[in-house]
Amino acid sequence: MAAFVIFGATGNLSLSKLMPAFYHLEAASKLEADLRILAIGRRDYTTPQWHELIQTQLSKSARGGLDAATWQRLCTKMVYVKMDTSNEASYDALKEALDGSSGGVAYYLSMAPSEYGVVVRALHNTGLLDEAQGFRRVVLEKPFGYDEASAKALQHHLERYLREEQIYRIDHYLGKSMVQNLLVFRFANILMEPLWNRNYIDHIQITHAEDRPIGSRAGYYDGSGAMRDMIQSHLLQLLALVAMEPPASMDAEALRDEKVKLLRSIRPIAKNQVNAQAYRAQYSEGSIKGERVKAYLSEEGVAKESMTETYAALKLYIDNWRWEGVPFYIQSGKNMAKSQTLISVCFKHPPQQFFKPSQVRKMEPNWIIFRVQPDEAIKIEMTAKQPGLSLATQQLSLDASLLPCGPIGDAYEDLLLDVLRGDRSLFLRYDEVRAAWKVVDPVIESWASNRSFIDTYVSGSWGPKEANKLFEQPHQEWRFNDSVDKAPCAL
Ligand code: BG6
Repeated sequence: MAAFVIFGATGNLSLSKLMPAFYHLEAASKLEADLRILAIGRRDYTTPQWHELIQTQLSKSARGGLDAATWQRLCTKMVYVKMDTSNEASYDALKEALDGSSGGVAYYLSMAPSEYGVVVRALHNTGLLDEAQGFRRVVLEKPFGYDEASAKALQHHLERYLREEQIYRIDHYLGKSMVQNLLVFRFANILMEPLWNRNYIDHIQITHAEDRPIGSRAGYYDGSGAMRDMIQSHLLQLLALVAMEPPASMDAEALRDEKVKLLRSIRPIAKNQVNAQAYRAQYSEGSIKGERVKAYLSEEGVAKESMTETYAALKLYIDNWRWEGVPFYIQSGKNMAKSQTLISVCFKHPPQQFFKPSQVRKMEPNWIIFRVQPDEAIKIEMTAKQPGLSLATQQLSLDASLLPCGPIGDAYEDLLLDVLRGDRSLFLRYDEVRAAWKVVDPVIESWASNRSFIDTYVSGSWGPKEANKLFEQPHQEWRFNDSVDKAPCAL
């Protein structure tokens, strides 16, 4: 009988992601009948009160509505345990609640990273990491550290109590179906491989835009910013998957070896290059979906003169045979025009423009666009002749919208199951996290020391125009649209 223990169960992540994920897994009959889910919190709930709270949440968010029978089955698995996690003595309550669990136990630390050390030490000291009765795994939410030095210190601390195989550093982007599809698209099709390099690719962009503000997360976000929150973690993972070499196999270590190799090949950003390779800004007031929204500085809990970036952009180069000289542009912002995550691969122009003499509009390059969200799709843009007597071309998009057979599950569903199965391929190894910090640390340090001014962008816009300064070539620009411009190119 295995158990999943959720520390910080009453927090935002648990309520909005983890509990719904357990519910949907139960609905899909993916949870063992005797699995136990222990929700740990400081608040004074009884188990029936906890069930009521989750039921209210799920009745609004469950896919296809809340199914009574599924909910009843989940209730029999789930109990609430009140405890103060900073007090070692209170772990007896957890021990008692786990009594009788003869199988493995996974501890999910959905709490501030500053608390990881205390909790893991207490689990160890009270025998709750003892693997005599089955596995003991610890799932850690991002961020893993605050920079390379703090990640190192945290790792050092964890190593005293846990083996690397017991640590599951979660990056929920790796649980997204399109992110996994990147690997399939690249390595299950021979068509792409000959083109996937500096000879044919002009540049690659990764754009993550959100049409939401920071919400109630100022306490965390104001000390973090977009570079740490999105780029160091999720977006560098996307970059690694798009650009890495084929792994020796698809097993966890082989896959992660290749990602680390790629991250280590990213050219370090020199201090005097930070301005040329990175850009930051903060949202000012504006309107989104017809509603007025406030500026970042007016959000509750944000420091009055905060210099925290809600938008960050980065230009990177990968110094290896495949990618030498190809720029990778990454951007991420809150309160932008629309929520979407796109990976856009722009190919070079053909060596000769045969249709040039009478062309009124420049021929468009080929693009491959991976839409990670909102709905997943892979699109390939090509130029073709328009039907008719004159020789006019048009951009066509071969649209492989990936319509799922049923509603698509949330990334956390896959990842929670992987923890129970012991599959670490979609979790981060420490050397990956460290390599990713090394990429962004010079920028973070430079921004921290330059606290006089930060540009702003209007909420509801596509972000600050000034970020265009990162582009190397005049024809390069951010791509926010994954559909082709239908205007024909007359020849
Ligand atoms: C989280 C960040 O890790 O990812 C959030 O902390 C961000 O700030 C979120 O909004 C984005 O995830 P998704 O799955 O909504 O794209």
